[in-house]
Amino acid sequence: MKVLVEKDYDSMSRRAAEIFIEEIRKKPDIILGLATGSTPIGTYKELINEYNKGNLDFSKVKSFNLDEYIGLDGSHPNSYRYFMDDNLFNHINIDKNNTFVPSGIAEDLENHCKEYDKMIDEAGGIDIQVLGIGENGHIAFNEPDEKLSNGTFVVNLTEETIMANSRFFDNNEEVPKKAISMGIGSILKAKKIVLLASGRKKANVIKELLGNDFITTKLPASFLLLHQDVTIIVDEEAYGKLD
Ligand code: GLP
Repeated sequence: MKVLVEKDYDSMSRRAAEIFIEEIRKKPDIILGLATGSTPIGTYKELINEYNKGNLDFSKVKSFNLDEYIGLDGSHPNSYRYFMDDNLFNHINIDKNNTFVPSGIAEDLENHCKEYDKMIDEAGGIDIQVLGIGENGHIAFNEPDEKLSNGTFVVNLTEETIMANSRFFDNNEEVPKKAISMGIGSILKAKKIVLLASGRKKANVIKELLGNDFITTKLPASFLLLHQDVTIIVDEEAYGKLD
């Protein structure tokens, strides 16, 4: 696992974007694995800037997102589909038909989970995956538990995650309690993984992840230790407790 410590959020975002820009230039029909949350927003902004300068072409790019809330359709401002359109897709020349986000309103969710993994495989697999990390060590919505899902699955969110997500909703009642999420196995299939963490709130979980050399379902991000090409980019605040 490669660890890069950057001064602040902006330099973390630039560093991550540089990696993505290089990969997209190398392979114009790349398959991107994308994440939501506040952390990757700066990276997406950098990609948009590069596109606006005429230096980046998304016309052949495909993308798959990690997760979606159950019960919200793509027009809901808190859905992850809406987030992706708003923070990235609406500002670049990607064909929206080539952007995939799990559906939170699929009639048969179990079947949709299987189909989603199949679609990723049939597209050729994710070339590069960006990840954030929850304060409890979750990646996508793989919450700490006795066991973790291999493939895409339906998840009951923990109280901690519901609380953390509530900042985006008008009131706590509205925060979805369930989500559909790529599993740990689906994530580990990506050829390259870039995990981002910024701010003091992430310092404890980054210390747990980088300060130890064990894998546990209680810290889902620890499964990244099994992957051969992971880059973790943190800012100084998130790295703070390791000094
Ligand atoms: C949500 C998302 C994760 C994300 C996490 C951290 O739970 N499902 O993919 O990594 O939040 O969010 P943030 O980047 O806002 O701290």
